Amino acid sequence: TVLVVDFGAQYAQLIARRVREAHVHSEIVPSTMPVEEMLAKKPKAIILSGGPSSVYAEGAPNVGAELFETGVPTFGICYGFQAMTRALGGTVAKTDLSEFGRTELRVTGADSLLFTGLPDEQPVWMSHGDSVIEAPAGFRAVATTAGAPVAAFEDTDRRLFGVQFHPEVLHSEHGQEVLRRFLYEGAGCRPTWTMLNIVDEQVARVREQIGDKSVICALSGGVDSAVAGALVQRAVGDQLTCVFVDHGLLRKGEAEQVEKDFVAITGARLKVVDAEERFLSALAGVTDPEEKRKIIGREFIRVFEQAAREVVADGGDGNEVEFLVQGTLYPDVVESGGGTGTANIKSHHNVGGLPEDLQFTLVEPLRELFKDEVRKVGEELGLPPEMVWRQPFPGPGLGIRIIGEVTRDRLEILREADAIAREELSHAGLDRDIWQCPVVLLADVRSVGVQGDGRTYGHPVVLRPVSSEDAMTADWSRVPYEVLAKISNRITNEVREINRVALDVTSKPPGTIEWE
Ligand code: XMP
Repeated sequence: TVLVVDFGAQYAQLIARRVREAHVHSEIVPSTMPVEEMLAKKPKAIILSGGPSSVYAEGAPNVGAELFETGVPTFGICYGFQAMTRALGGTVAKTDLSEFGRTELRVTGADSLLFTGLPDEQPVWMSHGDSVIEAPAGFRAVATTAGAPVAAFEDTDRRLFGVQFHPEVLHSEHGQEVLRRFLYEGAGCRPTWTMLNIVDEQVARVREQIGDKSVICALSGGVDSAVAGALVQRAVGDQLTCVFVDHGLLRKGEAEQVEKDFVAITGARLKVVDAEERFLSALAGVTDPEEKRKIIGREFIRVFEQAAREVVADGGDGNEVEFLVQGTLYPDVVESGGGTGTANIKSHHNVGGLPEDLQFTLVEPLRELFKDEVRKVGEELGLPPEMVWRQPFPGPGLGIRIIGEVTRDRLEILREADAIAREELSHAGLDRDIWQCPVVLLADVRSVGVQGDGRTYGHPVVLRPVSSEDAMTADWSRVPYEVLAKISNRITNEVREINRVALDVTSKPPGTIEWE
């Protein structure tokens, strides 16, 4: 593995992903981790991430020289680069030229390990106030910019490297190549982290964990639970029972897709619970978003609990169910403080808070993976693209996309409009550009329109197409006008109750992606 030491910048996850894109396994560790503990992980290389602070700032994460005496090839980025400089006796100082954003880098060491084969001048992404003025003894400066006298250095004997810019962001045009050169040439890593290996490895691990016991998996219709379920099915076959709760707040065709496609491809045993009635009566008269979420969450747990008891009672193979599959992803693990075990899991909202008396051991085959890797694993497992590339969909479903009370009629209207939007976005080939496009029904709002020869008094829907890498931040997607026109046209023609289509042009922040 390659350790990415996190100095508190938002870039550590991105670095970890870029390393994996070079087919090398990576793991994020906090900068407070003692060096011995890092070495115990037997890292092939160490990468020090950027950080928000100046190395001279009070409370800046301290980096001792011992981190550079381990013999493990090490690459410092931005803050990591400056921390390395300082620890090894070079000079970091405030120059008058801070650099933020796109900057021209000039390579001065043409035969350098990091830049061999790359252009002498290249755009890079910078974000720094302090600069390295003088490289530590034993290092050779190999690149420079207007604001950073030493913008990159290397000591190929000790296999220590550093750059001031951010190679992990796409604006650094050859950044990924620089990173690869460090990994392959500098650290001798080999590109063995492939989807096939991930699947094989996880299948073996799951098999070992579960043994001959029984396991249950709650399918939400989303990508993560489907891929996790398919992986566990491959590992232990019939010991797995999947449970799918149809709460009536699903998109068009969703339940069918789980029932038909998922089962057909994985061969998993599936228990479908039709709980529409129950959810709708619990939601009757409720308009407050938080209250809706609480009710849906609570009902979900009750229904799932009941189903789990039935599965246990059925026993299938006579074994008690001891394991529960969760689609926890690596960003959740990192955000909840890393580590292993079940203590700090940010529960998949759906089955979060299962009652104490239903104790399961969690099986989390995706907890080392990023979303894009999960999708690739899904493809490797043979799940259809419609399932693997589908838009994220919130657990509370269409219930939080109807502004106002949730009723069966309103759900039916929204389901139709949503299906049209999804279909047209797919036709336009935008599925992979757009993170998701909620369609929101403003159920308590009416406006006057004219359809045919008559006056109408219908409801508006709002299209909320967004682009995002991780849903933490998002921008509204610039969907081509023709595609928007087609969607608007079809919705107002085909869904009688809707006479207006609006477009949400708010980024996140300040708006969230969903409306409730
Ligand atoms: P927001 O609206 O917070 O949404 O910007 C961020 C992402 O999370 C999804 N979302 C949820 N997913 N359970 C989920 O599993 C939920 O309760 C939930 N609420 C929002 C949302 O669709 C977006 O992708």
